[in-house]
Amino acid sequence: MKAFITGGCGFVGAHTAAALLEAGHQVFIYDNLSNSYQDALEALQDISGIRLPFVHGDIRDGERLLQALKTSGPDVVFHFAALKSISESFEKPLDYYDVNVSGTVTLLKAMQSCGLKRLVFSSSVAVYPENSPSPCSESVSSVGAPHPYGETKVIIERLLTRLGESKPDLSSVILRFCNPAGAHPSGLLGEKTRQPQGNLFPRIWQAARGEIPRFEIFGGDYATPDGTAVRDYLHIMDLAEGCVKAGEYSLRHQGTETFNLGSGRGASVLSVLRSCERAAGRKINFQIVSRRTGDRPEFIADPGKAEKILHWKARKNLDEICEDAWRYELHRG
Ligand SMILES: NC(=O)c1ccc[n+]([C@@H]2O[C@H](COP(=O)([O-])OP(=O)(O)OC[C@H]3O[C@@H](n4cnc5c(N)ncnc54)[C@H](O)[C@@H]3O)[C@@H](O)[C@H]2O)c1
Repeated sequence: MKAFITGGCGFVGAHTAAALLEAGHQVFIYDNLSNSYQDALEALQDISGIRLPFVHGDIRDGERLLQALKTSGPDVVFHFAALKSISESFEKPLDYYDVNVSGTVTLLKAMQSCGLKRLVFSSSVAVYPENSPSPCSESVSSVGAPHPYGETKVIIERLLTRLGESKPDLSSVILRFCNPAGAHPSGLLGEKTRQPQGNLFPRIWQAARGEIPRFEIFGGDYATPDGTAVRDYLHIMDLAEGCVKAGEYSLRHQGTETFNLGSGRGASVLSVLRSCERAAGRKINFQIVSRRTGDRPEFIADPGKAEKILHWKARKNLDEICEDAWRYELHRG
């Protein structure tokens, strides 16, 4: 497969590139580096021995995108370029609709004008409403998010469904990601962003390094085994392998299909912290503070459909996620 990856220098994109190369596929990367660095390309070269073709461009720049698609002639487009912070999406809704929704429309038009028919799209479990069951399968009757970020994903999912109805020879694979974490086992590639990270793992590592005085846990009185919120975390390389399987599936499939990519296992914030302490070999200061509005006590995805149809399953456990993430933290210094 010849793969074209938008956002290919980012966390998911670069690890998917590594997994695609590992599986013997070819990769072309398109990224504006607004939240990533060209280092990712060097790390990919160190891991695979291959210098990847790269175009520095914005997905809203239709001309540049079209040129890059024509030059690379991919079988499958993996669309990961997006803005992804829930809190920032409240402050900058216009940017979120512009990059995520308009950017996707521009990409789909460019794909259409050069006859490309296969897309793997990075959606999120953020599209599941707060009252969804846990574990949650793709068959829930409605999707909808209480924040602009999640809404952009809902809109794109609907757009892809409508587009598929109008053009039955298209193949769109919508992947609803849970919480990827960890790093490539080489320690050379990991999560390195330009924007400050509000996610759980980056905050834990900041506390482990002493860059912040303590890690704050939002809510310790949920009805969960240890009182802290439970989420579905999966290793970034498991997620990347799921993306590869989705790309391979798109080669033999037509229509729009949606899959959860999660581990199907829940881990509490406190258990993640303990696992990070084991990986780093040190105690990490933490403090339990009040709950955040909108956080639910537990969310776990049901990955059964991906297992059945894509023949994919997350294999790595929480300790492996933390060990690989910490190895990368040490490497990048
Ligand atoms: N990481 C997660 O926890 C998570 C969870 C669910 C869904 N997702 C989705 O997966 C995708 C990838 O997420 P990620 O964690 O790798 O994010 P990331 O920020 O690490 O990567 C996104 C990449 O896209 C690039 N980019 C952003 N705007 C662009 C634009 N206008 N034109 C070209 N490139 C642009 C950035 O420079 C970056 O390299 C996103 O669509 C995100 O919404 C991520």
